[in-house]
Amino acid sequence: MHSAETSAPRPRRFFAAGPLTGRIRVPGDKSISHRSIMLGALAVGRTRVTGLLEGEDVMATAAAMRAMGATIDRLETGASGPEWVIDGVGVGGLLQPKQALDMGNSGTSTRLLMGLVASHAITATFIGDASLSKRPMGRVIDPLSQMGADFTAAPSGHGGGRLPLTLRGISPAVPISYRLPVASAQVKSAVLLAGLNTPGITTVIEPVPTRDHSERMLRGFGAELTVEVAPDGTRTIHLVGEAELRPQTIEVPGDPSSAAFFVVAALLVPGSDLVVENVGLNPTRAALFDVLRAMGGQIEELDRRDVGGEPVADLRVRHSALTGIAVDPAVVPSMVDEFPVLFVAAALASGRTVTTGLEELRVKESDRIAVMRAALEQAGATVTETEDGLIIEGTGGDPLRGTNNAPVATHLDHRIAMSMAVAGLASKGGVEIDDTRPIATSFPAFEVLLAQAGGTT
Ligand code: S3P
Repeated sequence: MHSAETSAPRPRRFFAAGPLTGRIRVPGDKSISHRSIMLGALAVGRTRVTGLLEGEDVMATAAAMRAMGATIDRLETGASGPEWVIDGVGVGGLLQPKQALDMGNSGTSTRLLMGLVASHAITATFIGDASLSKRPMGRVIDPLSQMGADFTAAPSGHGGGRLPLTLRGISPAVPISYRLPVASAQVKSAVLLAGLNTPGITTVIEPVPTRDHSERMLRGFGAELTVEVAPDGTRTIHLVGEAELRPQTIEVPGDPSSAAFFVVAALLVPGSDLVVENVGLNPTRAALFDVLRAMGGQIEELDRRDVGGEPVADLRVRHSALTGIAVDPAVVPSMVDEFPVLFVAAALASGRTVTTGLEELRVKESDRIAVMRAALEQAGATVTETEDGLIIEGTGGDPLRGTNNAPVATHLDHRIAMSMAVAGLASKGGVEIDDTRPIATSFPAFEVLLAQAGGTT
């Protein structure tokens, strides 16, 4: 069970302490960690993974893959950190889970695993926490139903394509050609993963590019996958089904979405000079750093290298005077999870920041437009909410007032909690968060690293 549902809320006030200095290392990438476990569990033989993110979301994926027959163990190997060892069942080999699959807070686990189950002749019930049970699953139900899978809502559920849902998969499934109606790597990945055990060629057409970890990793495991890019940027991905996956040794690069909180904190807190090590810089993920640089942020890439087939660097970040900006909506998919913390940076910049094209933020772990508007206002920022974004008038570098009586509500959303913690570091009176437990879904060491960097006491 997700920890935020089995223990009491853990409120905390985050204050301005000192500058952030020294070196910290961010944990493994969440998207890549999920995919390592899923593909490892479908390969024939033993996959080894280092740098895996040991957050609750990834552990929900691991538990589900175990429930469907994979053997997954964590080995303590010493200095270089733990190694995860996965013995796969082979494509087509997933077993009927005996109990409902508990997805906790994790949309990625839910949607990608629905893809895997869809093309196996097994039935699985997916359940999740209060946040996940509000999120739309219609976006994966549509294509997976076209492939032949059958979805039934629980009578007790919210209806309208929300969890709990029971999915009856089918084998052989029908290969489809699917044009994504929303820019979503989760939907793209669900269809591709369903295509793995489907005879023939499964095609996904992506008008707006989204994170491409599934494509990279499927190829790495030996699947026949091609990508054509049209002059207008549309990507057409073909996957040859009934694939045989070969086990891999994977080093998971650091998560740019986790690094984001430390990068913004160091930009905002006077005197900071921090190196954030091991940051994944896949171009489909890294737009936040470009936007912050365009706002005047001093972010330097050191020791650019390749880790696990992904570009990685250490980022040296120094306190900077930021200027507001109009963020190009074209970059939204490559920083879709980073807007809450960008809003915090904008609240401290000089002048106005305008964001548009953020409709998808309303269906994340919380409605991140409405929730960040409320939270930033409570902390003293000047914010206007529009249908598809926020307009923020920055303080020009002056600290925010901070929250007075009521704590900010994080709505079971880890990124709201961490973003408002960063706002607290840049405030006079501190920002009180109603619950820090959700942070463990993606970044269990966040508070420890923040203290280590000097950002809190
Ligand atoms: C993810 C895709 C994104 C992102 C999520 C992880 C993935 O969701 O917000 O945190 O691993 O594929 P969408 O595809 O729904 O935008």
